[in-house]
Order: sequence, then structure tokens, then C-alpha cells
Amino acid sequence: MNIKLDDRLLSAASFVRPGDAVIDVGTDHAYLPVYLVEAGIASRALATDINEGPLNNAKETVASHGLTDKVSTALANGLAGAEDFGADTVMICGMGGELIADILEAAPFIKNPHVRLILQPMTFVDHLRRYLLQNGFHILDEALSTDNKKLYACLCAEYDGAVREYSDVELLIGRHNLVRREHPLRTAFLEREIRKLEGIVRGKESGGLEAAAEKKLLSDLKAQL
Ligand SMILES: C[S@@+](CC[C@H](N)C(=O)[O-])C[C@H]1O[C@@H](n2cnc3c(N)ncnc32)[C@H](O)[C@@H]1O
Repeated sequence: MNIKLDDRLLSAASFVRPGDAVIDVGTDHAYLPVYLVEAGIASRALATDINEGPLNNAKETVASHGLTDKVSTALANGLAGAEDFGADTVMICGMGGELIADILEAAPFIKNPHVRLILQPMTFVDHLRRYLLQNGFHILDEALSTDNKKLYACLCAEYDGAVREYSDVELLIGRHNLVRREHPLRTAFLEREIRKLEGIVRGKESGGLEAAAEKKLLSDLKAQL
């Protein structure tokens, strides 16, 4: 049976170019690389994980789909030892935005215009966007998805060396997501960030702390609704 991905992972898969050699960092069950190779999208893949349990899950999935010749597996921290694989695309999904940025920072070989990054952070998406923009990565596009009532953003970026700047609202929501006013999940994303920020403002004010910057951001976010 072919792998069926949820909408979060499907949104990441949608950014893979046909024929790409793909590394999936933090692969767990290797659903993403197996799906990509089985669907004839990726030509080959390397599925890595830092933990043995998830890597064993990955090995089982690869073997049960008869793909050991096209999907290799490796126990590794981030992209350590992955340079020689010759990836066209590096995917890091389902981790915190800060950890994803740390993994990228430790792998200078991805600062290559031919390598596409597909990143799906669970938290601190603004931190990851800022990291990419400040380090010469161009955010080409983003995809929004939802699964079990949770909202996810997936970023597609490539290195071109130019440093770019986003406004605070763009860092939080994503420039591509802001301009897609008709996207069915755009309002839900904005409302989620507004709720979070309202909680921060309430917490700061009840502790007698200054919250002027957060209030300004809150009003800028509300203006986008
Ligand atoms: C929540 S799972 C995500 C699995 C899959 N990528 C997805 O999006 O559904 C996170 C996986 O990342 C792995 N992981 C955490 N830190 C890592 C690191 N520094 N390098 C490689 N894998 C890591 C964990 O062992 C775990 O299997």
C-alpha cells in the first residue's frame, strides 16, 4: 500500500521538484521520503534521525515498501555527515523553529543556490523566518495547512546570499501568507497569533510590565484581518 500523507506533510511534499535527491532530517517513520520516491517525485532519498527508535521505524517503512535501493537511512544529528549525499532538497519537518535554525546553521553546505530547503516548524516560526532572511536565504513561498484543528506553516527557501528584511507582522505570519487574502486558513492564522499576543500583553500588564511593543504589533496584526 502506498503511503498516505496528512495535509501537513503533503504541503511540504508539494515543494519538492521532480527528480530531486532529498534528505529528510528527523524523519521518524520515513513517511515523507517513502511517499516522495513511491510517487515518482524524488529520485532518491536519505532519511535521517538522531534517535535509534525513530530510525528503526524509518528502516521498517523503507524495507516494507521495497525501497532500500532508493531510500537510505542514517543515524545523525541534523545534517552531520550528509554533505556527500548530493541533496537537491533538504526537508526538516515537525521540529521547533529554533532547532531547525540550529540544524541549518551547523551545515554550511546548504548555502548553495542549488539546494532547496523545505521547512515545517511546529513553533517559533518567526525565529526561523528571521534566521533565513538574515543568513541569505530567500523565502520563495509558504504553504498553510491544518490537521486535527492545528495550523501549520511550511516554508520553501533557497540560498542566494542576499539579506532581506520583513516587518514584525511578516515575520509572524509570513509575507506570502499575508498577501494571499483569499486563502481559507489566512484568517485562522492571524487569529491564532492575535490570541497568543493578547495573552502576552495581559501577562505583562498584570505583572506591571511595559507592553507597548506587543500592543503595537497586536494592532498591526488586527489591521490585517
Ligand atoms: C515530531 S518528529 C517529526 C517527524 C516527521 N519529520 C514529521 O514531520 O512528521 C521529530 C523527529 O525529529 C528527530 N530529531 C530531533 N532532533 C533532531 C536532530 N537534531 N537531528 C535529527 N533528528 C532529530 C526526533 O528523533 C523525531 O523523530
